[in-house]
Amino acid sequence: MFNESFKPQKPIWVTGAAGLIGHALVEALQRRKLPVYPVTRQEIDLTRCDQIVEQFTEHSPSAIIHCAAISDTTQCQQNQNLARKVNLFATRFLCDIASDIPLIFFSTDLVFDGQKGNYSPEDPVNPLNFYAETKAEAEQYILLNPLHTVIRTSLNGGISPKGNRGFNEQIRQAWVQGKELTLFTDEFRNPIPASITAELTLQILSNQLTGIAHIAGGSKLSRWQIGELLARRWGNEITPRMKSGTLKEYNGPKRPADTSLDITQTEELLNEKIPGLEQWLLANPEVPF
Ligand SMILES: NC(=O)c1ccc[n+]([C@@H]2O[C@H](COP(=O)([O-])OP(=O)(O)OC[C@H]3O[C@@H](n4cnc5c(N)ncnc54)[C@H](OP(=O)(O)O)[C@@H]3O)[C@@H](O)[C@H]2O)c1
Repeated sequence: MFNESFKPQKPIWVTGAAGLIGHALVEALQRRKLPVYPVTRQEIDLTRCDQIVEQFTEHSPSAIIHCAAISDTTQCQQNQNLARKVNLFATRFLCDIASDIPLIFFSTDLVFDGQKGNYSPEDPVNPLNFYAETKAEAEQYILLNPLHTVIRTSLNGGISPKGNRGFNEQIRQAWVQGKELTLFTDEFRNPIPASITAELTLQILSNQLTGIAHIAGGSKLSRWQIGELLARRWGNEITPRMKSGTLKEYNGPKRPADTSLDITQTEELLNEKIPGLEQWLLANPEVPF
């Protein structure tokens, strides 16, 4: 539940504000009439410490929600220097400069190796690819400060500013372009709309919850099941082009099989039930997705 007494006077920085989750967060803050400073690459290049210091001194933000990242696993694998700079070094720098204020860092379910699924916040991490390695290392640094929070989330969907960041947008784009997708029947996540991730993040911030929190959809689905749900959602509007496959057929950065997250702690702390994707789609037929 959102804590209504949370009324910061100074702006809350949202980094990665032009990305899927950052954009949803800016909208959620604006809906609640909370002061927000959307940080896109135009405002601050987060690999430039001088720019961070200059803007931080000027704004003196009340909190930082840090969503910016190189979030594409293939890009991270191919350009490890850049991935390290943005996902790890920039995160550490923000963490240092924000040592006296709340900072929420967005991490990923991919920090787990996917051998067992239903991971709780206390389970040991074992990243399989470079993206996940940078996130797991950044998490350790964030957790040294008792004012700071790590949110691990799963596949997020929705409408992103560039139209290509949500899993739904990527599937829609492929099908519209007539491309057939191989969707794995043996890779599991808990997909969630970014609008829900954003709302729960504000609840965490307003209640000053720190440590590790898992925010993910209430049901575990395979990539294939996600495709089926979207095909049904879009009906005759788009012809679904999908064939089923298995992880064995994939050539790319290593992908864990089942990184579903245990969300019970988050649900109990916030007194909220997080819907599964199928449930959310049924309850929100008019919301663009
Ligand atoms: N979306 C998911 O399914 C998912 C799942 C698990 C975890 N996460 C994590 O959640 C966070 C938000 O995800 P997202 O999907 O919203 O990511 P996203 O859409 O890829 O957005 C990331 C943003 O970071 C910005 N950025 C990258 N390098 C930067 C730099 N040097 N300076 C300033 N900004 C920079 C990008 O700016 P440009 O637009 O200018 O490139 C982009 O807008 C990320 O940390 C991601 O790893 C996401």
